[in-house]
Amino acid sequence: MCGIVAYVGPKDAAPILLEGLQRLEYRGYDSAGVVVSNKGLKMRKVKGRVADLAAVVPARFKGGLGIGHTRWATHGAPSDVNAHPHLSTDERIAVVHNGIIENADELRAKLEADGAVFLSETDTEVLSHLIARTVVEADSLEEAVRAALKRIVGTYGIAVIDAQRPGEVVVARNGSPIVLGIGEKEMFAASDVAALVRYTRQVVHLEDGELAVLKADGFSTFAGDARPTAKEPLTVDWDAGHYDTGGYEHYLLKEISEQPETVARTLRGRLDDRFHIAHLGGLNMDARETRSFRRVKIIGCGSAYYSGQIGAQLIEELARIPADAEPASEFRYRSPVVEPDTLYVAISQSGETYDTLAAVQELKRKGGRVLGIVNTVGSAIARECDGGVYLHAGPEVSVASTKAFTSTAVAFALLALHLGRVRDLSPADGRRICEGLRRLPGQIKEILALEPQIEELARKYADSPSMMFVGRVRGYPVAREGAQKLKEISYVHAEAYPASELKHGPLALIGPEMPTVAIVPDDELLDKNLTTLGEIRARGGRVLMVGHRTADPKLADDCVVVPRNETELDPILLSIPLQLLAYHAAVALGRDVDKPRNLAKSVTVE
Ligand code: G6P
Repeated sequence: MCGIVAYVGPKDAAPILLEGLQRLEYRGYDSAGVVVSNKGLKMRKVKGRVADLAAVVPARFKGGLGIGHTRWATHGAPSDVNAHPHLSTDERIAVVHNGIIENADELRAKLEADGAVFLSETDTEVLSHLIARTVVEADSLEEAVRAALKRIVGTYGIAVIDAQRPGEVVVARNGSPIVLGIGEKEMFAASDVAALVRYTRQVVHLEDGELAVLKADGFSTFAGDARPTAKEPLTVDWDAGHYDTGGYEHYLLKEISEQPETVARTLRGRLDDRFHIAHLGGLNMDARETRSFRRVKIIGCGSAYYSGQIGAQLIEELARIPADAEPASEFRYRSPVVEPDTLYVAISQSGETYDTLAAVQELKRKGGRVLGIVNTVGSAIARECDGGVYLHAGPEVSVASTKAFTSTAVAFALLALHLGRVRDLSPADGRRICEGLRRLPGQIKEILALEPQIEELARKYADSPSMMFVGRVRGYPVAREGAQKLKEISYVHAEAYPASELKHGPLALIGPEMPTVAIVPDDELLDKNLTTLGEIRARGGRVLMVGHRTADPKLADDCVVVPRNETELDPILLSIPLQLLAYHAAVALGRDVDKPRNLAKSVTVE
């Protein structure tokens, strides 16, 4: 999704902006632009990649103040002119914007009637014209920005500069993230810490409604009503190295391969071998409160939602509390009944997904108790929740989620263990789960060693027009995430069904053209699953089985055998080969693995 970078300080802004924009490339975008201030504004913007922009930025692009942007089109097609920044007609004001201005058409008509000349089709351009109109009489740029924002309905993260105030940038946030970066006699701002870590680890997150003024020697922040706010800088523990491919061909493969370490990090310091419990310091709930919940409701989007389905299963099994997961994007719009004895859990890798954030805010308005399972420390969702669990998986760059998905499932296992042990889960079962969790990193390593076999299978199946993924109970969310991975990065159509539902409809699709990936753990449902495989084979369907043993060749054409853990934890391991399968299918088909078409890493608009 769109990215913002801003700089004010003694150095030339342009190279810093371009580097920052490059670090945001992974979020997905279609055009990019920069503007710097040096005796007037100088701007370059192009449809295409940041490298295309860098090619048209001349060496003499000097100036220590500037803003840059990568755009993901919403209003108006990707083009040079629709790319940000947008200038006012007198070229005094420049604006970059993430989010959507809902009353843009109405404002545009008024501004045009008043003489403003619009060059682009974007909603953003109303902002540069609005600010230009108020800045003339305002005492400060921030006052003009504040006045303009009062007329806006919608969401925004913005950065604004004024040619006549060459020493300051004004940024503001409402629904779209803005992070300030504090340097040595220089200040930065961006929509994502990824753009800042090369220069500073000291950051400040703006809250919705806040505005900040950045000068080389510091910053001030204000609430919507212009009252100053006090902000504590946070130190991020991710550095620029976390954002490199580290010798791998793609971020996706790097992130899949990191999972033994990232899972170990999610577990670190959280397992107690004396009482066989989980220590989750950030939940902010005492034992009495923890016992009081009668239901758990989990919300998230995309892969976060599917990991929530694994989480619901773990909580029901280990804590015996009814639990279910729902897409946050649906939940927020259906006026959900919010109950006092329900524990709500919001999942987000980025901590910025707008649908999930809006769902959390709706829950809070209705008095719901919300925990966050989040990867990005200090992100909007983490701040909004009453408590939670950080994944510590490190930054996830590739659009398709892998290590965050796995770490979320592991965090749910910890939460389920915690909820279970304050209820009826016996010390013996607690011990079994603790030991199982400790085995995960080593077992993930064993699965990663199967990569050559999985790569070959991916090549074999990649040319199928469509694939079916089936799993039963614990295996069903695994199948859903497997299908999601395949379709998002390889663009091969994939459907996921509960294995039990196959004969109630989708069996009609099965034939030689539609192979099935079947998740078949060695659990109490093994015989049922094998029966399903027989039904598929009887219709001429090919079967790739992912499970704990090699199947009779009458039932499966190919098998990927993964190590067993405790039955409750097996879904975590069964998901890993499906990540490799999707990755290698996408590579075989020549796809842009890290930046699949039409998708964005963090969807900060509705
Ligand atoms: C987007 C991404 C998905 C991701 C989802 C939720 O749709 O393309 O890969 O799972 O957002 O993201 P989050 O950051 O909230 O986990």
